[in-house]
Amino acid sequence: MLDENQYALDAIAQYELIYGKDFVSPGGAEMAAKLIESMQLPRGAHVLDAGSGLGGSAFMMARRFGLRVDGVDLSVNMIEQAQLRKRAYGLAESVSFELKDCLKINSINRYDAIYSRDAFLHVEDKEKLFTVIARALKPNGQLLFTDYGCGPKPWTSAFSHYVSERGYHLRMVDEYATLVRKAGLSLLESKNMSGAFLDILNSEKQSISQLPISAEERALLIKSREAKIAHVTSGEHQWGLIRAVKKRR
Ligand SMILES: C[S@@+](CC[C@H](N)C(=O)[O-])C[C@H]1O[C@@H](n2cnc3c(N)ncnc32)[C@H](O)[C@@H]1O
Repeated sequence: MLDENQYALDAIAQYELIYGKDFVSPGGAEMAAKLIESMQLPRGAHVLDAGSGLGGSAFMMARRFGLRVDGVDLSVNMIEQAQLRKRAYGLAESVSFELKDCLKINSINRYDAIYSRDAFLHVEDKEKLFTVIARALKPNGQLLFTDYGCGPKPWTSAFSHYVSERGYHLRMVDEYATLVRKAGLSLLESKNMSGAFLDILNSEKQSISQLPISAEERALLIKSREAKIAHVTSGEHQWGLIRAVKKRR
């Protein structure tokens, strides 16, 4: 389903033009570097990237931070691309990718950290999601994720349409904080990052004028950025950051 629509190969290529090589999430490599650095993991630590996409964060974790990374993703297109790039970059020793629904992660006490960037919006059963994540973390292991979120309802019909057309399952940042705690993790931070999201969307809108695409594609992309900027400005579309830790019992 994702492979035929949102993550069809041509759609992925267009995302990559906007977010940068190997990335499909707001802020691209620059935001990934900031977030990965903030985890302060020792070299050799074992990380799961849930919804790893083309592998941009996983490659950065291995190259720049000396981490071992397992990426899982539900999209065949994403996993195939990530595998090809991993081999081309010579990272087969430190990075692995698997075609897998993150709800089906069945590891126990395996990871020093679980990292995820803008993938949980696709997952409906959030309670199960955080239960499998909590189980897969080692004691003292940390969870860090960003995700598209929402403000309280009622939403405008334009935003409701945007969400339902893509099949997103959005939550408010506070709801994510509650879900994470309910799964037994200790919340370290829950932050509405919508200010930074607006800056990113505005700079994406500027950069679209330089992209090597047709005038028609450019007009559509600019229109979609303008709609997103309006939804974020009104507060109905948000961007959240959550950090939590699995306390040793
Ligand atoms: C917006 S992309 C982000 C990709 C990557 N995290 C990045 O930052 O470039 C969301 C990713 O989540 C993946 N995804 C969606 N539902 C998933 C699920 N249930 N399990 C694993 N991956 C999933 C999609 O296939 C897609 O690659």
